[in-house]
Order: sequence, then C-alpha cells, then structure tokens
Amino acid sequence: MTAAQPKFTPRIFSGIQPSGGLTLGNYLGALKRFVEKQDEGIETIYCLVDLHAITVWQDPARLRDQTREAAAAFIAAGIDPKRSILFNQSQVSAHAELGWVLNCVARMGWMNRMTQWKDKAGKDAEKASLGLFAYPSLMAADILLYHATMVPVGEDQKQHVELCRDIAAKFNHDYGVDFFPLTEPLIEGAATRVMSLRDGTKKMSKSDPSDASRINLTDDADTIAQKLRKARTDAEPLPGTVAGLKHRPEARNLVNIYAALAGRTPAQVVAEYEGKGFGTFKPALADLAVAKLAPIATEMKRLMADPAEIDRILGDGADRADVIAQPILARTLEITGMIRSRKP
Ligand code: TYM
Repeated sequence: MTAAQPKFTPRIFSGIQPSGGLTLGNYLGALKRFVEKQDEGIETIYCLVDLHAITVWQDPARLRDQTREAAAAFIAAGIDPKRSILFNQSQVSAHAELGWVLNCVARMGWMNRMTQWKDKAGKDAEKASLGLFAYPSLMAADILLYHATMVPVGEDQKQHVELCRDIAAKFNHDYGVDFFPLTEPLIEGAATRVMSLRDGTKKMSKSDPSDASRINLTDDADTIAQKLRKARTDAEPLPGTVAGLKHRPEARNLVNIYAALAGRTPAQVVAEYEGKGFGTFKPALADLAVAKLAPIATEMKRLMADPAEIDRILGDGADRADVIAQPILARTLEITGMIRSRKP
C-alpha cells in the first residue's frame, strides 16, 4: 500500500472469468500466484466472476459447469477454501450494487480507452452489450467492495486495475472522503504474459480457435507433452542471456514458461540451456510441464465428480465474502446520500 493511505490493511482480491476452460496463461499469470499469496499468509479473496462472463453470451448450463470447473481448478492448484475466500461473484449481490454506483463515477471516455474493450467489441461496438462496455467498472467494484489493497493479475489486466485506482480517486474526491484505497496491481514473475504456442506475438487465450495454441488445465499428460513438442519455434539454439531472446518471441515464451513452472528466472534457464537446440529444450519443458500440471488435471477430475461439494464451498465463501462486503457497500451508499433506514 502507498504511504499516503496507511489505514488500509493488506488484503488481496482477484478474479477469473469462468467463460471457458482455464489455460496455462491463467495458471502462470494468475492462479499459481494466487496460491503463493495465500501461502504468504496475506488475507486472500478469490472470485469466479460469472457476472463478467455474461457480458458476452454464455449458455446457462455450460456457464454453471465452467464455474464449478474453475472452482475445482483453484482448489486443485492449491487454494485452500478455508484459508482463502473462494466464491462466485453473483452470490454476493453487493458486487452489482457497488458496480452501479461506480458506473455513475466512471466516465465514458475512460471506458472508451480500454484496449480490451476495443479488442473485444471490435468494429461492431454498436452491437456489443452495455455490460461489456461497463465491464471495468464492475471489476473496480469487485476490488473496492473489499477495500483490497493488492490485485495479482497478468499484464493484460493492468489497465483495468489502473482504472480502478482512477475510479476510487474520483469517488474519494467527489464525496470529500478517504474511503476507497488506491489499489496496486501485482504483476510479478516470469510469465505475466504467456503467449500462444502457435504464434509468439499473440496472447495465449481460451478464446483462440486453435486448441493447439494453448495448454488447458484439463489437458492430460500426453496432450500437454504433444502440444509443447509441436510448439512453434525458430531454428536457432538458445542464447546464453535473456537479451538474446529479444527478437525471438516463440523462444522467449517457452523460456518464460519453463522459468515460471520451475520457480526460476529466465536468466537462470537460458544460462543452463545455452547453445542447446529445441530438440533438447522442448522435451525438458514437456517433462517439467507434465510433472507440474498433470496432477492438477487429475485432482480437478476428482473434485468435479462431486459438484454438490463445490457448490457448498462456493456458498460458504460467498457467506464470508458478504460479511466483509455489506458494511463497505452500506457506507458507500450512506456517503452517496441514500437513506438507510431498514432494520438489518
Ligand atoms: P481473465 O478471466 O481474462 O483472466 C484471469 C487472469 O488470468 C490472467 N491471464 C494471463 N496471464 C498471463 N498470460 C496469459 N496469456 C493470460 N491470460 C489470462 C489475467 O491477466 C487475469 O489475471 N477482468 C478479469 C477478471 C476480473 C478481475 C476482477 C481480476 C474481474 N474482476 C477483479 C482482478 C480483480 C479477466 O477477465 O480476467
């Protein structure tokens, strides 16, 4: 937290959309780091943002399944639902309520500048949902509803977390309060932007039409190994320094993935593999990835066999999230001039 706002205790919030299976990008850029933060003993709140997911059409039955599958991925990756709060957004109605208030604080011009809005709405912005446009202000509500001070995310969410700071600052300024924290994005580690295995200039994404472009957290050992062995690369051997990867996006991506999975730096990885070709590096990477990821897929499958237990965990998480969220929402509404006269 910045020195200017000492009154906020450290609290982590982050979220993932359950709109499709999770990828290695979600794992290295977010989930693995969520587990690290939990294990550092900071208060951690993690949310499956189903209200964000419906900003583009979702089949209802699939959305429910994918939300459970994402919850299973969190738990299989090491999130302990007793130590962290794990829940789905729509079960805590305060998200939508604060989202509305922040819609009235955020400016159209700010939303228009969001690169994800431009990418997702594309040329057909007239046909995009109003929810897709307002998406970042709901994201700000997610964070500010818990007075979260830090938000671990991949690089692609940096602009949204910065916007959350702008919204918090404008709310504090307009109402003459020091109520919302100016939250910091935490973008750390070797794999804050994992790229497609087919094109090192494109982000690895669940929405890429090519399944070979990504590793899904549900992929089995053979599939993981095969996708990495077939990953696009160049013909050069690996350099001895990270600077040598500068114009080699595919090679850099694989080195970053290796480093993040191994808990090492890219510099350490290239120092070890200097002069080696991909004939040596790719099988080593495949072995490492299988060792780290295949047990997660196996555990997810086990957890998915008991959807009622997943729903129970999400319900319990939502209850605990609500206890933190309600007083912050109530105070926000008081600050904005709403009458609050109902008995609790
Ligand atoms: P989403 O669901 O697109 O992605 C979830 C998290 O995974 C990270 N990520 C990646 N990291 C590295 N390389 C990649 N290829 C990659 N792909 C995805 C994302 O950066 C993100 O951290 N708007 C958010 C969800 C959200 C949220 C929030 C996040 C809603 N409310 C509040 C933080 C705080 C999103 O769509 O993430």
